[in-house]
Amino acid sequence: MARLPEEFILRLREQTDIVELFRTYADVKKRGRTYVCCCPFHSEKTPSCHIWTDDPHFYCFGCGAGGDVITFVRKMDNLSYIEAVRYLAERCGLEMPRQDPEAERGAYLRRRCYEINRETARFYYSYLLKGPDQRGLRYFSERRLKPATVQKYGLGYAPDDWNQLRDHLRRLGYHDEEMVTAGVCRKSDKGSIYDYFRGRVIFPIIDQKGAVIAFGGRVLDGGEPKYLNTNDTPVYSKRKNLFSLNFAKNASSNTFILCEGYMDVIAMNQAGFENAVATLGTAITPEQARLISNYARDVVLAYDSDGAGQKATQRAINYFGEVGIPTRILRMEGAKDPDEFIKKFGPDRFRMLIDNAGDALVFRLDKCKDGLDLDTEAGRTELLRRSVRILAELQNPLEQEVYAGRVAEATGVQKDTILIQVRGFAKRRQEFANQAEFREIEAKAVRRDAVNPEAQQHPRESRAEERIIAYLLRFPSEIEQVREAIPPELFVTEFHRRVYAAICQADWQEFSLSLLADQFSVDEMSRITGISAQNAEVSLSRDDIQEFAVLLRKAQDSPVTGSELTDDDLLRAVQNRKHNGQ
Ligand code: UTP
Ligand code: MN
Repeated sequence: MARLPEEFILRLREQTDIVELFRTYADVKKRGRTYVCCCPFHSEKTPSCHIWTDDPHFYCFGCGAGGDVITFVRKMDNLSYIEAVRYLAERCGLEMPRQDPEAERGAYLRRRCYEINRETARFYYSYLLKGPDQRGLRYFSERRLKPATVQKYGLGYAPDDWNQLRDHLRRLGYHDEEMVTAGVCRKSDKGSIYDYFRGRVIFPIIDQKGAVIAFGGRVLDGGEPKYLNTNDTPVYSKRKNLFSLNFAKNASSNTFILCEGYMDVIAMNQAGFENAVATLGTAITPEQARLISNYARDVVLAYDSDGAGQKATQRAINYFGEVGIPTRILRMEGAKDPDEFIKKFGPDRFRMLIDNAGDALVFRLDKCKDGLDLDTEAGRTELLRRSVRILAELQNPLEQEVYAGRVAEATGVQKDTILIQVRGFAKRRQEFANQAEFREIEAKAVRRDAVNPEAQQHPRESRAEERIIAYLLRFPSEIEQVREAIPPELFVTEFHRRVYAAICQADWQEFSLSLLADQFSVDEMSRITGISAQNAEVSLSRDDIQEFAVLLRKAQDSPVTGSELTDDDLLRAVQNRKHNGQ
């Protein structure tokens, strides 16, 4: 791939607001001169991802992810360098310089998928409103959707026919193969192409950036399957997206309502609750819980009250627990789902339901009783044992007390006795956790450094190299002087040498991390921003740099000092001796 012109990359960087870019994925807060958010790349409860706006870059002190804006998009959306650049360019209205079409095949196909999805959504929407077959419109009106709601969601109707969409897309210049890849058409055994959705009302699925990425289609009558959904495509994963997140993320409330069905979310929106999302034909996944945790402070689970719904609730509680999002459970009586509830009792009653939603703990304590005969002593003992484990998770003693009171009632055991048990259990669990954490740290210490494998062998030199790099990242105007004093060959570790050489090549007036993004992998970019972020508090002067230079020169003269001999070095030394001896 030919390199993109620097000038273009710099324009791109200039016109991309990194904070805005992050806001698509995370709740960003200003802190002093920088910004922070909970890291979109790992689960955490307190923000450790920092964003700097001058030469825009980010670094997470928790997981070590970092980079410039291009690296962020690469990592977040799993894109190649060129795809990430294209995305950012489109975002700020810059035209891409010409590129070799072969190298862009994947990117091209993804772009075609997005276009096909958009055109398909348009087609279904206008067919719903203006097509000869009015059944779709009648269906939505029977379900009491207002025209404004239909428009807001871009709902549609797929003609009850085998190839109207196909023919329409062909007329627009799309190829059959592309329609199949995008998931809107299928290929028959005989090799002909036909529409995937037929005679169904259509729910377009739209991602956080506002792109149509998939569809759900519901039958009008009692046919099977009730819903047909787009399978995963190059632009869509049902495990990683949510229905209506594009609206919920901008809702005024930080409480999200997670429900089961598309229609529930839409009915809620119509009733004024924009903060609702639904999964896409599967049970909630850890990825979806994390996605929600980027925007929500807490979550109300509004699953159906049937057995499957209860199971799903339990699962959701676990996943949200892992990402530090408290959950409450909506209990509906007299209706099977939110859509039905709102229709029967109105939005105000539904609001009350949300406000009074019981917390997940009560639900879990209630569930402890499942399968136990509380008339027997054995049953009550088991209930006590199960409940104590749950109460021990509470950090707040006051809360512990309140809930212990409930358990006391259920088991007939004194509250104080329960509390003693709870504290004992919590203590044992903490000790165990400490041990586990210690083992983890130990394990990390011996793990190999994949980005810079030589660093472990040469800790002092590697450290000095890091500082030199940090110095240049902080004071690019020093690049010329330092380059003269320290030629790249002095660097001991290959990775740092590459980074240093790349920085030295740059015009300091125009230096930007983004200019490195095409020469280094996503992990390498993380390390480079890490070097800058972790040394931010270290004072670095020209004199320090001189000292580091001396240290590196010394290392050149005597490549391995006795105190730092490692097994590898010994082995190499022995092999060398053999060589020389012969
Ligand atoms: P429900 O059967 O509860 O349907 O499935 P619903 O959303 O309440 O729809 P209405 O009110 O009957 O029209 C809940 C969700 O499960 C997925 C869909 O995402 C649906 O919204 N589902 C259900 C499927 O993917 N396929 C199916 O066949 C059924
Ligand atoms: Mn329903």
